[in-house]
Amino acid sequence: MSRSSEHEAEIDPVTGYETTGHDWNGIRELNTPFPRIVIWALALAFSYSVIAWVLLPAWPLGRDYTRGLLGLDQGEMAVEGYKRLAAVRADWLEPFADGDFAALSGDGSLMARAMPAAARLFADNCAACHGAAGKGGPGFPDLSDGAWLWGGTPEIIAETLRFGINSTHPDTRISQMPAFGRDGMLPPEDITAVADHVLALSAGKADADSPGATIFADNCAACHGEGGTGGLGIGAPVLADDRWIYGGSRDAILTTLKRGRQGVMPAWEDRLSAAEINLLALYVARLGERDAGAGQ
Ligand code: HEC
Ligand code: HEC
Repeated sequence: MSRSSEHEAEIDPVTGYETTGHDWNGIRELNTPFPRIVIWALALAFSYSVIAWVLLPAWPLGRDYTRGLLGLDQGEMAVEGYKRLAAVRADWLEPFADGDFAALSGDGSLMARAMPAAARLFADNCAACHGAAGKGGPGFPDLSDGAWLWGGTPEIIAETLRFGINSTHPDTRISQMPAFGRDGMLPPEDITAVADHVLALSAGKADADSPGATIFADNCAACHGEGGTGGLGIGAPVLADDRWIYGGSRDAILTTLKRGRQGVMPAWEDRLSAAEINLLALYVARLGERDAGAGQ
């Protein structure tokens, strides 16, 4: 690369500008003025920063900082905003705290305001296990089918939510389907016979004189009720329908009988406020009513 050292004023024939006199392998640099707009933009930005230093919080001073003449503080503004929001919410959420469910569900305008928030609470806390619409899935009960383990009144649901099922809460609801196979409570042939009886119950074709029916009466009816109609006091599901938590295939029922089942529903008492729990209880009770009504 050759570079001419002497600087003589040379005019570029195409543009009419002077060149800088530098020559890079025959390419010459034009001596064009620095663009005005850039200078203006820099001046503007600099003036704005000076104004901002004066008006807004800006310079750190050890433990403090310059507050600015306007006294704006985004931290405080966020806290204020949150307080305003909480006040608006408390307005309609507060009545739910005392859990007078009859009065609450009778108040149509209050329920209309609260149900969208209940749906959000459900989506945030419950949908991961029970599904977005509360329809459940393998291992997680359907909350919308009107078939309850513990009961579908808002009072009972609120208690289920507060304490959980097989949870770590001291007052937890306890639910246990024994492992008849693993614990040797029934021989394999009895397990097969009673599984077939459960399938027949579910299909509405149970034969009361079958060996399976006798085994059921002796080993299962205490919890699941005569004829598999369910036991609300101990969370034992109805077996005489076609709704299943763990699946209604012969294999799934045999697995339930051999290994037992002990579903865990977390306790919400320490995670949600009393008002939020009661709000959710009303929401879940309505899920059940809607579907039970539509399905029959
Ligand atoms: C980690 C999973 C999980 C989460 C999260 C969860 N649940 Fe559950 N829930 C379960 C399981 C499992 C059961 C059934 C327990 C059993 O098999 O006995 C259950 C049972 C229930 C029952 C009892 C139903 C009946 O038939 O009596 C209600 C009501 C319920 N859940 C509501 C909720 C609500 C409302 C939330 C959100 C605040 C929630 N659950 C969050 C897993 C969960
Ligand atoms: C001590 C009470 C108890 C006894 C006795 C009992 N069960 Fe259960 N059973 C339960 C409970 C509680 C559940 C729900 C477990 C859960 O949800 O985690 C259950 C669940 C089941 C299920 C799963 C239902 C579903 O929706 O997936 C089947 C099937 C079943 N039991 C059949 C039987 C049969 C058959 C017998 C007798 C051989 C029997 N149970 C005896 C309490 C009992």
